[in-house]
Amino acid sequence: EQIKKGNYDHFMQKEIHEQPHSLTTTMRGRLKDNSVVLGGLKDHLKTIRHSRRIIFIGCGTSYNAALAARPFLEELSGIPVTMELASDLLDRQGPIYREDTAVFVSQSGETADTLLALEYALGNGALCVGVTNTVGSTLARRTHCGVHINAGCEIGVASTKAYTSQIVVMAMMALAIGADKISTQARREAIINGLSDLPKKVAEVLKLDGEMRDLAKSLIDTQSLLVFGRGYNYATALEGALKVKEVALMHSEGMLAGEMKHGPLALVDETLPIIVIATHDACFSKQQSVIQQLHARKGRLIVMCSEGDATSVCPMGSCRVIEVPQVADCLQPVINIIPMQLLAYHLTVLRGYDVDQPRNLAKSVTTE
Ligand code: G6P
Repeated sequence: EQIKKGNYDHFMQKEIHEQPHSLTTTMRGRLKDNSVVLGGLKDHLKTIRHSRRIIFIGCGTSYNAALAARPFLEELSGIPVTMELASDLLDRQGPIYREDTAVFVSQSGETADTLLALEYALGNGALCVGVTNTVGSTLARRTHCGVHINAGCEIGVASTKAYTSQIVVMAMMALAIGADKISTQARREAIINGLSDLPKKVAEVLKLDGEMRDLAKSLIDTQSLLVFGRGYNYATALEGALKVKEVALMHSEGMLAGEMKHGPLALVDETLPIIVIATHDACFSKQQSVIQQLHARKGRLIVMCSEGDATSVCPMGSCRVIEVPQVADCLQPVINIIPMQLLAYHLTVLRGYDVDQPRNLAKSVTTE
């Protein structure tokens, strides 16, 4: 086991630091001269382009990855994209039609609820697409077509490198689905350039390891942590909070910043730490205003912003700032989750919990 961990103490730590490599493997052979080639999808692109809606279905981190992909899939395809937690879809027996494309996202390809939802969608005649890390898994075999994320074996129960590879695969899917649109060609080219640069930027953001360990030290005894995000980074808030919850065993909630005034604001005081994700994108000024409102209520703020933005997000110098490299806006969730993964990892070690096998959790949940 120690050999597989290499120079790392835990699999989760190794898998976090492996991401420049796992993302390179995910993209290998798939980005060609300003276009994307996904062998597993190419015969079905026409059907997907004509579908009435795209439904993302998954559980846990895989659901969050799909949520991160939703805005750019909508933007590049022009097709409405809806989200389903697999268990909730099954509980409701929600309507799915022949004109729908259902995209199932699962690292293991064996999660019971996701597979049951797949059988349900197949029964309703939808085109079923799989996004999985596991070649030969039930998900890979039962879907009509799909894309392997090729992130390499993930052992830590808390998913890290699979999350970023899932987002990158869905970005490539969005580029392939939208490839027939002249109007978005420049945007697509910018995203493809952003994808090529991503492993290098991920290596840069990993240098925040020491800083995130220091932040973890300052949070070690807190009861609770809130994470506010919006737009491309709503998913980052949910996934960052999920990481802290599942491994550091600390109560943590990811919230849509746009909902702040509808309840969460009541929780704000000088003790509760709040992470606000405010990297540069179309929602930046709205996040600045969220920071001001939290500041006015004396919130204990930690702000994640783009490099060079520290003074504009925190003019009073009263919050702790995490500066991350800026990439194409829709790929920013891949960068922004990494400090959160590092924070969850260090909090877990400092609090003395089992990093790779959190209590009560399983890597793959194969029962309903
Ligand atoms: C379990 C794991 C999570 C994972 C979820 C979905 O809860 O602990 O890390 O995100 O299952 O798993 P899947 O293999 O379908 O992505």
